[in-house]
Amino acid sequence: MAKILGIGNATLDIILTVASYPREDDEVRCIDRAIRRGGNAANTLVVLGQLGHACSWAGVLVDNADGRFIQDDLETHGVNTRSCRLVETGSVPVSSILLNAGTGSRTIVHYRDLPEYSFADFRSLVLRSMDWLHFEGRNVEALQAMFHWSREHYPSIPRSLEIEKPHPGIEGLFSLADILLFSKTYAGSRGYADPVELLQSVHRHYPGADLFCTWGENGAVSLDRGGRSTRQAASIPPRLVDTLGAGDTFNAGVIAGYLAQRDTATVLRQACALAGEKCGRSGFDDLALSGFSGP
Ligand code: FRU
Repeated sequence: MAKILGIGNATLDIILTVASYPREDDEVRCIDRAIRRGGNAANTLVVLGQLGHACSWAGVLVDNADGRFIQDDLETHGVNTRSCRLVETGSVPVSSILLNAGTGSRTIVHYRDLPEYSFADFRSLVLRSMDWLHFEGRNVEALQAMFHWSREHYPSIPRSLEIEKPHPGIEGLFSLADILLFSKTYAGSRGYADPVELLQSVHRHYPGADLFCTWGENGAVSLDRGGRSTRQAASIPPRLVDTLGAGDTFNAGVIAGYLAQRDTATVLRQACALAGEKCGRSGFDDLALSGFSGP
């Protein structure tokens, strides 16, 4: 069991499942609705908790019923929330999500007006006993300070960075992390139609990290710091039920794989299997845990 700190978002997800995706200006009925706790870093930690790790979440919440709902859910899943900052006013981040039961695809409309977790918040944490730090790539300036500070004071703790969206200046963080986890969205925003090309370009400029990029139904690729790339087909479940958080689950699989001291190709294969498993079920509970115990 490793101690993992995740820094990023926790959200309130309002999920409406529709039989098929509606047209603009339609009025349709959903076939199911759910209100769940979400957020990339929070989702990743919930999965890592199931894989047997002791996880803590650092982020911002509002001191109201929605904030308590999110905090209770994390605690129920064994994720420690003592490092979170509670603010008095505002709204927790809210995602309105249409989940297409026909394809499992999810369309997210996100609302946010909260301040970000700051470097001052981060610096007050006791990191000494941590085995892994995972950062959601947002709030670039503060993350830069967090990376530098943690590297100076705790150089041996491995650090992963998720790059899901193209935030201005996020490339400035690439040289600071050990593992970079890219999304298809980020690759597309940089004009790449092939994930290997993105990773090769990143590797040329930042050769010190192991790199991963997810590619939806086409699986994922890795490029280790020695320059070896691997493509892995997606692990498609018998029925695609819910792809919300598949990338977050993949990231959990990567972190768990490194903690179990697997090689990069094995990490990639197992992370794809875990993400596929997740797409076959609703939410993040009861994921199959085989393949993650021991080196
Ligand atoms: C899934 C997710 C949702 C959340 C949204 C935030 O990856 O974390 O749970 O609402 O993305 O961007």
